[in-house]
Amino acid sequence: MILVTGGAGFIGANFVLDWLSIYEEPIVNLDKLTYAGNLDTLADIRNDARHVFMHGDIADRETVAALLEKYQPRAIINFAAETHVDRSIHGPEVFIKTNIVGIFNLLESTLSYWKALPPERQAAFRFLHVSTDEVYGTLSPTAEPFTEASPYEPNSPYAASKASSDHLVRAWHCTYGLPTLITNCSNNYGPYHFPEKLIPLTILNALAEKPIPIYGDGKQVRDWLFVKDHCAAIRRVLEGGKAGEGYNVGGWNEKTNLDVVNIICKLLDEARPRPNGDSYSRLIEFVSDRPGHDRRYAIDAGKLERELGWRPAESFETGIKKTVEWYLSHQGWVDNVTSGAYHEWVSQHYGS
Ligand code: NAD
Ligand code: TYD
Repeated sequence: MILVTGGAGFIGANFVLDWLSIYEEPIVNLDKLTYAGNLDTLADIRNDARHVFMHGDIADRETVAALLEKYQPRAIINFAAETHVDRSIHGPEVFIKTNIVGIFNLLESTLSYWKALPPERQAAFRFLHVSTDEVYGTLSPTAEPFTEASPYEPNSPYAASKASSDHLVRAWHCTYGLPTLITNCSNNYGPYHFPEKLIPLTILNALAEKPIPIYGDGKQVRDWLFVKDHCAAIRRVLEGGKAGEGYNVGGWNEKTNLDVVNIICKLLDEARPRPNGDSYSRLIEFVSDRPGHDRRYAIDAGKLERELGWRPAESFETGIKKTVEWYLSHQGWVDNVTSGAYHEWVSQHYGS
């Protein structure tokens, strides 16, 4: 079986659901259930014997050691992290705790477990760390996309904490021989995305007739990848990736924030016209920019294609259409995640 951490969050839960729809191999899912963890997302596999959910922290060595001892996984895929850049600006401490100290503890627990495995299982074992393109910092409009050789230049507390975790993972490979893999992926979107991030926030604010906040001039560029394509890339790297290597994952889909929001508004105009007949794009409101806001991210995912034959299946146009349709047809899930804690965040961050 495999151990997944953070499997109640956006990408981790999509990964767990996809995995169980493809393979018989069971998953142990360790998640702390922070505000971003949501068991509703896993409701369809509640009674599936192939999925074992454990509520716990990656930093808790006793819990992790007991899990590893009991389930003897052949691989660990680490999704667990604090992930929202704006939250990392308001309160960086928890990012240091989970993304750096938590990863350190998880690596130590994994190393003890791995060292005790028989040689054949040691050789086959993988620790796959899911990371971000934000570790590379920002690009000028004409610069070449980030490759695996790009220097790490993180600009936000979130990006710096993820960069630190990548360095720790690399060091545990180089120093102790732990068979690690790192994936650095661009911005994901798709079903079950928590509505503090741009795409679900835009869909839900539009439907609620609330302002759609665009930071600064909205001309920042992100490379967007449909979450199921990211899950497929992780499965591919897990199967075929070379221990100790890193792989960039991206959608070849660069878009400005303003373009993304306008595309969503157009889809909503067609699917759920506003009562007053206006376009949802009239709800766009330019607000103060994010401090240290990276201007452009772009990923060269060529290594993953050349070496492991992965390419995204969705274009932005097909993926965003599926995403909008998903949000329109999953009102119950949306109502449950937009809990009290979410409202507090919205009034703290956008209040003024
Ligand atoms: P998310 O915030 O939606 O989910 C994170 C999950 O981790 C939650 O279920 C949370 O409860 C859990 N968690 C947090 N701290 C934990 C801890 N100490 N122990 C155990 N569980 C803990 O995040 P996501 O968007 O699904 O991102 C998953 C991973 O992918 C992260 O490592 C992130 O850096 C990386 N990533 C995300 C994106 C993106 O666009 N969302 C892009 C590239 C990489
Ligand atoms: P986000 O979804 O937070 O992802 P990340 O910061 O990891 O890229 O933001 C995506 C882009 O959208 C980023 O450039 C910030 C911008 N943004 C807004 O303009 N308004 C918003 O309300 C939010 C949440 C993000």
